[in-house]
Amino acid sequence: MKAPDARALPRPAHLAGLDRYEPGKPIEEVQRELGLTDVVKLASNENPLGPSPRALAAVADVLTALHRYPDGPARALRAVLAERLQVTARQVVIGNGSTDLIDLVARAFLGPEHNAVISEGAFARFRQVVMARNGNARLVPLRNGTHDLDAMARAVDERTRLVFVATPNNPTGTWNRRAEVERLLAALPPEVLVVLDQAYFEYAADVPEAEHPDGVELVRRGDPVIVLRTFSKAYGLAGLRVGYGVAAPEVIEAVDLVREPFNSNSLGQAGALAALGDRDHLRRTLELTRRERDRLGGELAARGLRVLPSLANFVCVDTSRPAAAIFRALLRRGVIVRPLEAYGLPTCLRVSVGVAAESARLLAALDEALAERA
Ligand SMILES: Cc1ncc(COP(=O)(O)O)c(C=O)c1O
Repeated sequence: MKAPDARALPRPAHLAGLDRYEPGKPIEEVQRELGLTDVVKLASNENPLGPSPRALAAVADVLTALHRYPDGPARALRAVLAERLQVTARQVVIGNGSTDLIDLVARAFLGPEHNAVISEGAFARFRQVVMARNGNARLVPLRNGTHDLDAMARAVDERTRLVFVATPNNPTGTWNRRAEVERLLAALPPEVLVVLDQAYFEYAADVPEAEHPDGVELVRRGDPVIVLRTFSKAYGLAGLRVGYGVAAPEVIEAVDLVREPFNSNSLGQAGALAALGDRDHLRRTLELTRRERDRLGGELAARGLRVLPSLANFVCVDTSRPAAAIFRALLRRGVIVRPLEAYGLPTCLRVSVGVAAESARLLAALDEALAERA
């Protein structure tokens, strides 16, 4: 019998428009490729203080039980989150990172005939997940570097089931005010669910509610919203892959139905639980990030670069020239940032907020890179 030719295997037509997610370059890869030893990574919006020591200890405690399956529904973690967020445990679902939940929401609510409305400048996984699901992503341009929620409401049609909104948004760092979100909610037909991705919510939690809404508050009052949050950013546990969703029990039930039974692992559950108990680590993280974000933004602006306002742990900077060349020049100097060509922002770079020494490395390398191209 003739062996099948893997190269000839047809792919479904809706995958034709799907692009690959490009993660930030790992430090080890840059060290190997460029023969550098001292590399600074400001490319994936990670916590520069590292994980909470309490989370590390809790993870170590679980190691001897790794022959056991994790608690599939993550009961303990859900219970603590529910109490913190003043919802019931039936309103919380845990994901293998919040990217897992983006995928689960699409699986739960998008049939082959449905579509999702997404901002062109939003976190890339929204579009990729919808393209992988059924190819029906309705894209709406950014306005002033921000999700244009009124235009997104107008893009909703009778086949729309999901509207994705990230606030603060990645890669811009910009946000939507509560009144804008409420206007979007009021304009939607009852069969549409808003996926409110708040991966960076903690960094914005000091801002008044009118300026930046707490999505969980909208869930508590019964709005058709699923809020997604993560332990990867302010909690410093990106490697453990733990995110969570908060919504009405019926929404969570639908997501839970399509969830892989052991999608969050025992190390992640234990680490996340302990991180929630380490308020001191969170406080230090937020103080450092907000202080360094403002300082970094000021330093970049002082160089004549346009910096978008940010409520997250990164800034988006418009260099007014092709940013790919600056990205490479920074890389050669051992500083990894994120070029944003794939987001339709070819002159922009996204820079994560690090500790002061990391910002200093970036700024020194950037001065050299800009002088090189002047
Ligand atoms: C807006 C947004 N949502 C979700 C995520 C994914 O986070 P997680 O590590 O929880 O999958 C990110 C990560 O960069 C993000 O920027």
